[in-house]
Amino acid sequence: MTKMTINIKMVKSLCSYQIPFRIITNIRKYGYSELIKLSRHTKQHEVDSMGRRVTVTVIVTVIVTVIVTLLFLLFTVPGCGKRVIDGQQIAKGEKIVIKFSHVVAENTPKGLAAQRFADLVRQRTGGYVEVQVFPNSSLYKDGEEFEALQNGSVQMIAPATSKMSMLDPAWQILDLPYAFRNLTEVHAMMDGTAGRKLFARLEEQGMLGLAMWDNGFKQITNNQHPLAQVKDFKDLTFRVMPSKVLENQFKQLGAAALPMPFSDVHQALADGSVDGEENTISNIYTQRFDQVQKYLTISNHGYIGYVVLSNSEFWNNLPAEVRKILEETLIEVTVWQQRKAEEVNNNHLEELKKQGQLKIHLLSPDEEKMWQQELLPVYDRLALEVGPEWADIIRGLKNNGR
Ligand code: SIN
Repeated sequence: MTKMTINIKMVKSLCSYQIPFRIITNIRKYGYSELIKLSRHTKQHEVDSMGRRVTVTVIVTVIVTVIVTLLFLLFTVPGCGKRVIDGQQIAKGEKIVIKFSHVVAENTPKGLAAQRFADLVRQRTGGYVEVQVFPNSSLYKDGEEFEALQNGSVQMIAPATSKMSMLDPAWQILDLPYAFRNLTEVHAMMDGTAGRKLFARLEEQGMLGLAMWDNGFKQITNNQHPLAQVKDFKDLTFRVMPSKVLENQFKQLGAAALPMPFSDVHQALADGSVDGEENTISNIYTQRFDQVQKYLTISNHGYIGYVVLSNSEFWNNLPAEVRKILEETLIEVTVWQQRKAEEVNNNHLEELKKQGQLKIHLLSPDEEKMWQQELLPVYDRLALEVGPEWADIIRGLKNNGR
């Protein structure tokens, strides 16, 4: 990243029309170099007619006026700073580059939101800020992203909340099975004290939580047989994201769980290292898990969402005006993203149905009740892991809708 230097010429061209001083009117009228010539001409004229003292006074007055005006312009004129990030005025190489790494496909809720953010930021800063999006683990995969963010190799990531448990196990409250009946309940929790506490604690790790993005609710695929009853899980192995809650969830149902990075899942399903996995429809569809799996159960048993993260030091050192544009754009993209996520998952489910590779079972209310009942001990184990500070929240989620 090269920091842009603000020179007099740039300031003149960016801000002159806002300054109510005569000198600036003259800059606008004559241009800066003409103004300098004007002052030289004045010098000759004054020497001829009134002598050296008057000349010096005029020159000093002009110079002081120019300096005071430029200082005034730089520090006080509203809107002037904003124009400093006008891409038209910036030489090649003078830009802020933000590398945004993520692990999913471009046409998923996260992939689309990251690209929309990049496009809007480019428009709104005239190219001064370039967000480069690296999808599909093309830069870093799960397990590498946090370190890359901390050491400054990338500036933004958006890991699934389950992966946040590697930093802080309390994030696993979002993994609890059947804790939320809809996305509104997830948003309410994350907008409340629990969400604020989780975000605040990220600062201790040098990270800044900028937004929460949705994907949606998880479904389960496998290669052996339809999953409807709890007994159907027996002796199967499922890939999970790195979260004790997710491991316990499958163990509680009689299966084994194997944590592995997202980028390895397709291959593991294809070569039989695992029998199945849990994911949102958009991830199942875009990773083409349907080509290596036979059965899909629509269970909506858990949530996948993302924390949009930056390195606090990087973010806090951005020029204030840039940070404001990025943060306002993120708010706007988050609202858009939360609507888009549901639409994308619905469309991809229709596609999966059309392609007909997977035999789809929709969990009945009775089956769901049995799964829910069987999974209750997972809550108690998380309560033990994260301690009394989270007891009320976990109890609330355990009783939610039951
Ligand atoms: C993601 O949606 O970012 C990845 C989910 C997974 O690892 O299964």
